Amino acid sequence: MPSSSLEGKRVVIIGGTAGIGLAAAQAAAAAGAKVWAAGRSKEHIENARAQANGSFEVRQADTHDADSLKAIFDEVGTIDHLVSAAVGGERTLKPFLEQTDEQFRAAYDKLWGYTKVVRTGAPYLAADGSITLVSGSPARKIRPAQSPLSCVGASVENLVRCLAVEMAPIRVNVVSPGTVDTAMFDAMGDAKAGNLAAMTATHLIPRAGTSEEVADGILFVLQNRFVTGTTVDVDGGRILS
Ligand SMILES: NC(=O)c1ccc[n+]([C@@H]2O[C@H](COP(=O)([O-])OP(=O)(O)OC[C@H]3O[C@@H](n4cnc5c(N)ncnc54)[C@H](OP(=O)(O)O)[C@@H]3O)[C@@H](O)[C@H]2O)c1
Repeated sequence: MPSSSLEGKRVVIIGGTAGIGLAAAQAAAAAGAKVWAAGRSKEHIENARAQANGSFEVRQADTHDADSLKAIFDEVGTIDHLVSAAVGGERTLKPFLEQTDEQFRAAYDKLWGYTKVVRTGAPYLAADGSITLVSGSPARKIRPAQSPLSCVGASVENLVRCLAVEMAPIRVNVVSPGTVDTAMFDAMGDAKAGNLAAMTATHLIPRAGTSEEVADGILFVLQNRFVTGTTVDVDGGRILS
């Protein structure tokens, strides 16, 4: 049987208090999993708690703080599925030669956060457990002014392939979103809807995706026991457009 039910499974989602991670927490809980979702800010935690309405647990953790991660993992005990959907790094959108070394390096905080989640969480994983990370379409869709996103995303995807080989039979996968309407773009303010429409106008599916659509991809890799070392694109065809 390639697929397994999430009923009663213990799922931890770091970066699960907003956007894609929160949608994955909601979907996993609706599928019967016992879910812990975590993030840093009080604002996102309170909002996630309100949305969970008791259907999953919400905790405070930072991908860069092993103690905060360990506190959750100790509470969970054995983890069936460990997900990190945290942003965790800076997004400097400038041509490479206009960036400082510090800006470029700061993008890699996403990767360092993910490595900490994996290192800290690995001892808690069930023998048939899984790890799922989140990259992004710039990893393989090269556009000007996106070199930090592209390089970090590609690193996350390659790390996943390395981990899948080293940690088998634990399954390790990555989901790669295209442009998705989440809080990540809230800094655009009133221009957000127009900007997202412009950014996606040439995509094969010419609109921004939803967090729920990407969460579907995450649930697929959690449940399909024959999938490992794989990148699942949920991007409206962005890398082909
Ligand atoms: N939205 C897109 O178009 C898009 C495209 C490509 C890739 N992605 C990737 O998809 C993933 C999810 O993005 P999203 O759009 O859902 O973002 P989002 O709506 O901003 O949600 C990000 C979540 O991660 C948490 N988070 C951020 N940094 C964290 C850290 N250091 N430790 C723990 N939690 C942290 C946030 O809460 P706090 O801030 O309160 O900690 C929040 O819960 C990210 O890896 C992002 O790079 C998104």
